[in-house]
Amino acid sequence: MRVLAVGGGAREHAIVSALVRSGADVFACLKNKNPGICRAAETYHLVDESDVPRVVEFAKANRTELAVIGPEAPLEVGLADGLEAAGIPTASPSKSAARIETSKSFMRELLMKHKVRGSIKFKIADSTRDVELALNELGTGVVVKPIGLTGGKGVKVFGEHMMNNGDVLAYADEVFAKRIGGSARIVIEEKLIGEEFTIQAFCDGSKVVPMPAVQDHKRAFEGDQGPNTGGMGSYSQKGGLLPFLQKNEYESAVKIMEDVVEALKKEGSEYHGALYGQFMLTREGPKVIEFNARFGDPEAMNVLSLLESDFVNICQRIADGRLSNGDARFMPKSSVCKYVVPEGYGIKSLSGEEITVDERAIANTGALLYYASVNEKDGKVYTTTSRSVGLVGIADEIEDAEQIAENSLQYVKGRVHVRHDIAKKVILDAKVARMERVRRGGT
Ligand code: AMP
Ligand code: GLY
Repeated sequence: MRVLAVGGGAREHAIVSALVRSGADVFACLKNKNPGICRAAETYHLVDESDVPRVVEFAKANRTELAVIGPEAPLEVGLADGLEAAGIPTASPSKSAARIETSKSFMRELLMKHKVRGSIKFKIADSTRDVELALNELGTGVVVKPIGLTGGKGVKVFGEHMMNNGDVLAYADEVFAKRIGGSARIVIEEKLIGEEFTIQAFCDGSKVVPMPAVQDHKRAFEGDQGPNTGGMGSYSQKGGLLPFLQKNEYESAVKIMEDVVEALKKEGSEYHGALYGQFMLTREGPKVIEFNARFGDPEAMNVLSLLESDFVNICQRIADGRLSNGDARFMPKSSVCKYVVPEGYGIKSLSGEEITVDERAIANTGALLYYASVNEKDGKVYTTTSRSVGLVGIADEIEDAEQIAENSLQYVKGRVHVRHDIAKKVILDAKVARMERVRRGGT
């Protein structure tokens, strides 16, 4: 099977590895020369991933029979539609279905209209007057989100980034003036209290096949300090739950995802692809923080490293609408991913710096290596402004998987930064204790 893979991060390296494991010949379109992807692919093309005509032309020229798109930007401009129109079945959502991620107002309104459980109170605002009205209605504990894509950096939370109504109004005005996220509109929503978790699922338009739950660590520095990032590392637990997440809570989040896929179908936007649900586990159960129209990064590295089933077959069934529950089996193991990022990542990344990656030593530690947004040139690897290398440990217990990932980190050298505390026992125990407090009505 000749498969097109779009994107050049660690998520896409994990996608490409899973495709190759299932016997695919991969043809890659990516904007940076990711050494892992370029080596695994039959051919690669360095190109703007959102340039639909050029990507479609490459896919046709290489007679690809299936496509998988990693990042959100090409989904937003309709790459899946372009590939389908060229006769290439695509395991990623159309431009219309991807609005579940690309428009935060579309997502909130869809959930409200279809009375999906897990919806929260929100208002859409495009003027100072609207913001004042929203604050009157919702109270001060709010979160402000630009409507469009901001790479995870546009969301501001009361009590963290905004301390009073004046701050909320000032940030809203800034979004309106600068059109942050591409439009002069925001969603203002209630602030949820609890622990966050992610469920990713394969969807074929109707059927939803969920994967193990994952928890990401978004803050740049240890102890969950510093700015929000794309994600510094993530873990999953044997059995598919998380230390603070119970089975009925996982199931209730999956039900929310099923309801969303059904709602999209009713609206004429059948969802084919991996769907990423970000939830807050509150006292009243899981509530929706956001949806992404793709795998998460780093979360893809957790689930795809554990996937035992044939990924090519899953992607074909996603595209054709033939998915069934038995199609996705995962190793009954825990996984921990730690990201190596350039110094300054989250504030001002040190890009263009050489790093060295001792692949053989990493393999000897038992960790899996996924290259991220790096560039290879003359056999050397250089950082960009985004994350550099993902290292994944797999073992029965989270603690052992964490050790494997941690041991491998010493073999990536250069001006880099890592959160060594990801998935450490102290952090996980604190999350369990916090969730117990939240369940009793505390914060
Ligand atoms: P998002 O880009 O929507 O995932 O938001 C980024 C981060 O902001 C999330 O991972 C949460 O930590 C936080 N956040 C977003 N929405 C809410 C909410 N309604 N209540 C509390 N925190 C939120
Ligand atoms: N790790 C969050 C995301 O992929 O958006």
